[in-house]
Formats: sequence, C-alpha cells, structure tokens
Amino acid sequence: MTEPLLALSSLTLGLRMGADLVRGLDLHVNRGEVLAVVGESGCGKSMTALAVMGLLPDGVTRKSGSVTLDGIALTSLSARRLRAIRGKRIAMIFQEPMTSLNPVLTVGEQIAEVVRQHEGVSHRAARARALEMMNRVKLPDAARRIDAFPHQLSGGQRQRVMIAAALACGPDLIIADEPTTALDVTIQAEVLRLLDELRRDHGTALMLITHDLGVVEAMADRVAVLYAGVKIEEGRVEQVLDGPRHPYTRMLMAARPDADAGRGKRLVEIAGSVPSPDAMPPGCAFAPRCPQVKPRCHDRPPAWRGTAEGHGCACVLHD
Ligand SMILES: Nc1ncnc2c1ncn2[C@@H]1O[C@H](COP(=O)(O)OP(=O)(O)OP(=O)(O)O)[C@@H](O)[C@H]1O
Ligand SMILES: [Mg+2]
Repeated sequence: MTEPLLALSSLTLGLRMGADLVRGLDLHVNRGEVLAVVGESGCGKSMTALAVMGLLPDGVTRKSGSVTLDGIALTSLSARRLRAIRGKRIAMIFQEPMTSLNPVLTVGEQIAEVVRQHEGVSHRAARARALEMMNRVKLPDAARRIDAFPHQLSGGQRQRVMIAAALACGPDLIIADEPTTALDVTIQAEVLRLLDELRRDHGTALMLITHDLGVVEAMADRVAVLYAGVKIEEGRVEQVLDGPRHPYTRMLMAARPDADAGRGKRLVEIAGSVPSPDAMPPGCAFAPRCPQVKPRCHDRPPAWRGTAEGHGCACVLHD
C-alpha cells in the first residue's frame, strides 16, 4: 500500500486548559482522491482543517497526535517551514471568501502575492500567473477583473479568486471548507464542477468539508463522518451511502430530503443537538440521541472496527 498524501494520527485539539474539540482523530487523504468530511455544525470539521494548515484560532491548541504530509510531520515544523508548505503544497479554500481576502488589495495582487512568496519570481511574472489562474477558474473578463478589489466582485467570483489563489502554486492538496454554502445553487454547481476538473486535470487531492450528501455522492471517493469531534464512520462513498453502519450516519441519510433532490439542502432535521465540548457524555457521544442506544453505550466510547475493504465504524452494534 502506498503512503497516503495526508495523514492525521490520533489528533486531539482543544481549548488550552479546557475541553477537547476534536478527539483522537485518524484520517487520511490519498494522492489525487477526494475525501469528504461530513457532520453537523460544531462537530470539529473546520478545526480539523485549520489544524492541518497550522492555523488554529487563538486559545485552541493541538493537545496530542500528528499531521503528516507526504512523510513530513507538519506538526513538528517551525512556523517558517510550515509557511513554506502552506500555499505551495497544501492550500485552503474558506467558506466565506470575504473574510479571507484582503479588502484593500486587488484580487490580482493577492493571487500574485502567493506566487511571489513561494517562488520568488518577479512582479511581472507573478501577475502573469495570476491572470492565467483567473482564466483557469473561468473568471469572466479576467484581464479587467485582475485590478478589481474584492468588494467589486460577486460572491461566486470571489470564491473563484480564492480557488485561483489556492491553485497558483500547483498544490498537491486543497482543503475546501464548505466552499459553496455562501453561494446560490447554480454558482455552487459551477464551483464544484471547477474543483472536480482540477482533480481530473491536475491530480490535485481534495479534502472537501460539506453538509451536503448530494455533493459527497457526486464528488467524493471516500467519506468520513464526524460527530462531536470524533470520527464515527468512514469508507468509500458507495459503502457508506449504500450501507451506512452507524445509527448517526443512517439518520443523516434519512434527514436528506430526497436522494435525488438532496443537493443544496442542509442536514438539520435530527432531533436533539450535538453535546457541547465541555459536557461530553462519558460513553458514546451520540448515545443521548441514538434510537438504538444500549445500556453499555453510556459506559465508555465504542471501539473503532474496520473491514478489510476499508469501511469502519465506532458503534457497539458492530463491536
Ligand atoms: N475560535 C474558537 N475558539 C474556541 N472554540 C471554538 C472556536 N471556533 C469553534 N469552536 C468550537 O469548536 C468546536 C468545533 O467547531 P468547528 O468550527 O470545527 O465545527 P464545524 O464542524 O466546522 O461546524 P460548522 O458546520 O458549523 O462549520 C465547536 O464546539 C465550536 O463551538
Ligand atoms: Mg465549519
């Protein structure tokens, strides 16, 4: 078996001196594949992505575990060496591009800056690359828009600028954190098609965080389901969507409005809510909401059980 491109091993993230937000997470992305990460709001999807990028918010820290990219332990690199990898080998696309684009720089300057930082090329060459990337992401009238400021573009155009900046140095992996939730449905489809093309044409691997099982089905090779900071199921998309093992995954699937018309709908119709990190139940975190709960579910977290075909689940029903 070849080594995965990205590997998270027993990663635990939490508040300094406080509750854990992501607990003992094992996750990997193979070269050129799309891994979807799904789960309700607050399950730790964004924290996981930020930990890979080395961009955890103030107050949140990695308590244990590691992140490895292509054999390099990112979690033991200096800030300077991590900066050299971020943007060049891994890039991230954020949910709301307005918060991650600088409002006082033109979009062309922002894409060119990524190139200059990593490749030390001239201003002129970096600008030419920015224009090439803007064309590649099919930003209409790129030659004119290169000198636009973010507020002069629509949401979908800004998201394309973010993708152009992410692609500028030809990364091996793009982490896309709900890249389309802020966009309307037709633009969503275009942005997803663009990400899919990149994977096909350039072999870029994608870790795609989404609420949308329609997107998972259309785009992903494998899927990991998180609940309250813990991975509860993982497998190839057809394994998990056709034969979900964990009651939580089954409920997510049932909450899908319609298998064919599910795209764009958010998964919110499950009764109850995700426990807060500082009030985590001692056993399975899903036990309080689980329709198939057993007395022993409350005792200790269930063990992870995987099949030889790579379909795994953490639930006493499969113990
Ligand atoms: N800046 C922060 N400081 C401390 N805790 C935070 C911070 N941001 C988020 N959290 C907490 O971390 C946990 C995981 O949040 P995270 O943002 O990773 O969830 P998510 O799965 O991305 O949810 P969503 O689908 O809403 O984006 C939540 O309990 C959240 O309240
Ligand atoms: Mg998030």
